[in-house]
Formats: sequence, C-alpha cells, structure tokens
Amino acid sequence: MATDDKKPSGPDLSQGIPAADLADGAMLAGHISDDEVLLVRQGGKLFALSAHCTHYHGPLADGLLVGDTVRCPWHHARFSLQTGEALAAPALAPLSCWQVEERDGKITVKDKKPQPAPSKTGSAGEHFVIVGGGAAGFAAAEMLRRRGFAGSITMISNDDAAPVDRPNLSKDYLAGSAPEDWVPLRGDDWYAENRIDLKLKTEVTALDTKAKELTLSDASKLKFNKLLLATGAEPIKLDIPGIGQKHVHTLRSLADCRAIIAQAKDAKRAVVIGASFIGLETAAALRARDIEVHVVAPEKRPLERVFGPQLGDFIRALHEEHGVKFHLENTVTAIDGKQAKLKTGGAVDADLVIVGVGVRPRLALAEKAGLAVDKGVSVNGFMETSAAGIYAAGDIARWPDPISGERIRVEHWVVAERQGQIAALNMMGVRTPFNSAPFFWSQHYDVPINYVGHAEKWDAIDIEGDVMKRDCVVRYTLGGRVLAVASIYRDGDSLKAGVELEKRAAKAAASA
Ligand SMILES: Cc1cc2nc3c(=O)[nH]c(=O)nc-3n(C[C@H](O)[C@H](O)[C@H](O)COP(=O)(O)OP(=O)(O)OC[C@H]3O[C@@H](n4cnc5c(N)ncnc54)[C@H](O)[C@@H]3O)c2cc1C
Ligand code: FES
Repeated sequence: MATDDKKPSGPDLSQGIPAADLADGAMLAGHISDDEVLLVRQGGKLFALSAHCTHYHGPLADGLLVGDTVRCPWHHARFSLQTGEALAAPALAPLSCWQVEERDGKITVKDKKPQPAPSKTGSAGEHFVIVGGGAAGFAAAEMLRRRGFAGSITMISNDDAAPVDRPNLSKDYLAGSAPEDWVPLRGDDWYAENRIDLKLKTEVTALDTKAKELTLSDASKLKFNKLLLATGAEPIKLDIPGIGQKHVHTLRSLADCRAIIAQAKDAKRAVVIGASFIGLETAAALRARDIEVHVVAPEKRPLERVFGPQLGDFIRALHEEHGVKFHLENTVTAIDGKQAKLKTGGAVDADLVIVGVGVRPRLALAEKAGLAVDKGVSVNGFMETSAAGIYAAGDIARWPDPISGERIRVEHWVVAERQGQIAALNMMGVRTPFNSAPFFWSQHYDVPINYVGHAEKWDAIDIEGDVMKRDCVVRYTLGGRVLAVASIYRDGDSLKAGVELEKRAAKAAASA
C-alpha cells in the first residue's frame, strides 16, 4: 500500500480546479490518481501531460513553455503540448496526454488519450543504413521508426554493446549509484520489435558513394538508398612509456567502463590524466567509491578554456572539497608499474590510471570515401554531406551553426542525438534544418553545470549571481553579443538563454 509521502503532490485534477487559477502561459502540477500530471494553458488552449520528463524525470513544471512545446529544465528536451511527442532529445519517449475540459469556471482533467500512431512514410523497398551505434545513430533510427519509415533499417556498430546512455558512464554508473540496466538506451528486444537490424561488433571499412555501397569487416558488401554516418569520436591515446598496462584506461564504451569498475573495486589510489569533462567526472565518480584521486593536467585551471577562470576556479575548489588532489601545470611522462612519473619530478602511486585527454572524431571512413572533410565531416544545414543521400551527425559533423554564424563541430550528447533526429527527418524527405542552440551538461558530485550556445572565444564574461555559492548565470560575450551561457541551478535562465539564441538566429536568417 502506498504511504502518504509517496502520493503525488498538487491538486487532484480529476476533481477540477478553479479556471482562474491557471492563467494563459501558466503551468500547474497536480495528479490523476497515482499519475503526476501537468496542466498547461498556452495560447488560450488547455493541455494535460505527464508532469515529468521521460529522460531523467526532470520536473516539467519548472520548465519553459515555448509556442506549443514545453522544454525540460534539466537538459532542455522539448515535448509537444498537443501530442506529448518528445520533439527534441535527450528525451526520446513521449509524455502521456489526458483530455481536459473547461466548464462552469472549472478545469477538469478527464481520460488518458491514446498515443497517436504514426502514418507510414517512405517506400517499403527503401534501405537506410546507419553507421554508428551511439547517440546520433540511435536517435536517428528511433526517429525513423517513430515517424513511420516503412523501409528497412540496418544499424552497424563496431561496439559489442547496443547503444548506451554514454553520459552515465562517467557519472552514476561509474560511481556505483546506478544499476547497469539504466545504461542501455533500449532493451535488446526493441531493435527486433522495431525492425532495426542491429549488427554489433561489425566495422564499416569502406564507403563507395557512387555505388551506394559499404564494405564491412567480414568483407561483405551492403547496399543502401540513404546513409547516415555517425561514427563519433575516440579517446586520444597518450604516447608515453607504460601506457599499455592493464591498469591504464580510457573511457568511451560500456566495456571501458566495466573494466574500470572491475579494477576500482580493489583500487586505493587513482591518477586521472587530464582535467577534461570526462577526466573530472571520472574523478568525482571514483571519489564516490572512496578511492584517493590525483588529477594531473597541463592547464592552470580545470576547464578554463570552456568556462573561463571563475567557473574553472569553482570546479577546482569543488573537487578539492571532495578530496581530489590536483597537479596542475604538470603532465605524466611515464607510467612505471604503479607509479605515474610527473614532468616536474616525483611520482604519484596509482593502481588505476584513467587517461582523459580529449577525443578525436572518427573521420577515416568519410575521408577515404572522398567526402568533404574540414576537421569534421562537412554537412549543410540539413545534415547532408557533400554526397547526396549521405548524411552525417554527432561528434564527426561540422555544420553551419545559424547562431554563431560559424561552421562548428561539438562533442555534446544532446547535439548528437538531435542531429541524428534531424538527419532522419531529412532522409525521409521531411526537409528540416538543424537550428537548435547547442547544449551540454556536466555533473560534478551534486552540482550540474548547464551550457547553452557555443563560444570558442569571448572578450567579456558577465556573471549574475554567485559562482562559489552555486547559483549563477555566466554569459560569454564577444563584441557585446552573447554567444553562450553557463549556469548552475538557474535552469529557467538557461532555457531562456537557449530560446534567445535561437530567436536571434531565426531573425538573422529571415533578414538574410
Ligand atoms: C564517458 C562519457 C561521458 C560523457 N558525458 C557527456 C555529458 O555529460 N554531456 C554531454 O553533452 N556529452 C557527454 N559526452 C559526449 C557524448 O557522449 C558524445 O558527444 C556523443 O556520444 C556523440 O555521439 P555520436 O553518435 O556522434 O558518437 P558515439 O556516441 O561515440 O557513437 C559512435 C558509434 O559509432 C561506432 N563506430 C565508429 N566507427 C565505426 C565504424 N567504422 N564502423 C562501425 N561502427 C563504428 C562506435 O563504436 C560507436 O558505437 C560523454 C562522452 C563520454 C565518453
Ligand atoms: S531530465 Fe528532462 S531532458 Fe533530462
């Protein structure tokens, strides 16, 4: 039997609320028996949807209404108010929707609506192939089926695991606070149920753009009508003595993560080489396992190149508070057994070493095929490469970002998923530009940092709030123009900043 404190909060919406309690543009969280429901009045219409995001359960009542969508406060997923569809990742599953009625000054939520079935798109004879079983590849396959693509889909991945929630590999799963069944993006049955031929442990070794044919690692050939390249990135390997030892790891795949966890069980001390996002998140996860952690990195402040000095200092202080020891402006020159030798002299003992010194996009396949490549696979605003019918998305794609006006390539989970979704729509012939503001989040202990936009350089940093008190909005501006906004516990501001950046880009596009 449910206890009182487990009962959903807010009014019982089946009993109705006074209509005057919900102004236009307002949201109210309540419940219908055990279901938490969000009631929304937007543009004069009423909507009732699940109150929590289908990604990590973010409370949508704290989100933002934008047109006929609601955006999640935590990682900016977008849902249709009309249908509940997860229009933009990282959420992929829809929200449930209920009928709503306004009568005699009262709003009442009625029955749950059935999920609308997609109408069939494309011919059953078409074959779409996705190279890569990561964020972009999975999101593309999911979108193709969700929108009713009738043809066949093959997804090829050289990984031995089906697509996983990669961000979790340096956070809760690595820390031991999330079970492994949280990690797959979908269960194994999902692929067969959705007629997706998932070929794991299979490398695509060549692409013939004229013949529209791939060569696989077993020398077999595979024809396609349309192709998505989503080969992601791989960790940069350090060329130092001792790097090949069993206790030295990089972290990209579930297999990497399992190997680290297996050794972390008996480890007392770890050295993390590199104060990158992955390096620092790994440091936090290992501290949760009570392992002594030393971070060795050449920079003066962690993550200063992305976040600037103030957030860099905060991140360092936060990790130090949790016992991490930094060796900054330093590097590891060799790993001699259990000793990581430092450039400045001396050594740090480590029975576990994680190398997190950045990643390199996997471009070899595209390069060999003769696709236009410019420090990334060049795509147009519809994610199409220089070869018609061949698309690229995620960590490998360099696209014309309408917000910065530059061609950019980023390594963000949400961007990769959304680009995969947009590529899927365009592959189906639904011409849709990619125009979302880039977004990423990073989690250090209990502190999430959200970042929207893209600033490779800036001439001013404007801080609202207090960084050290974990309550701030940090704006990166160039020539007076805001390029990007980082925030801690200011989710509403982060969402609004994304909307502003997208509006500015739309305005610029309209006047061009
Ligand atoms: C541990 C970790 C934590 C992260 N945390 C965050 C985070 O908190 N926030 C954030 O924004 N981003 C985060 N990222 C980055 C994010 O995961 C990537 O930006 C995202 O996964 C990129 O998606 P993708 O589809 O381009 O590539 P991937 O997800 O890397 O997928 C590429 C796939 O292609 C396969 N492949 C490559 N070449 C071939 C080939 N020739 N043949 C067959 N298969 C091939 C690979 O095996 C892989 O399955 C994290 C990354 C890691 C590793
Ligand atoms: S919890 Fe909603 S987007 Fe992550």
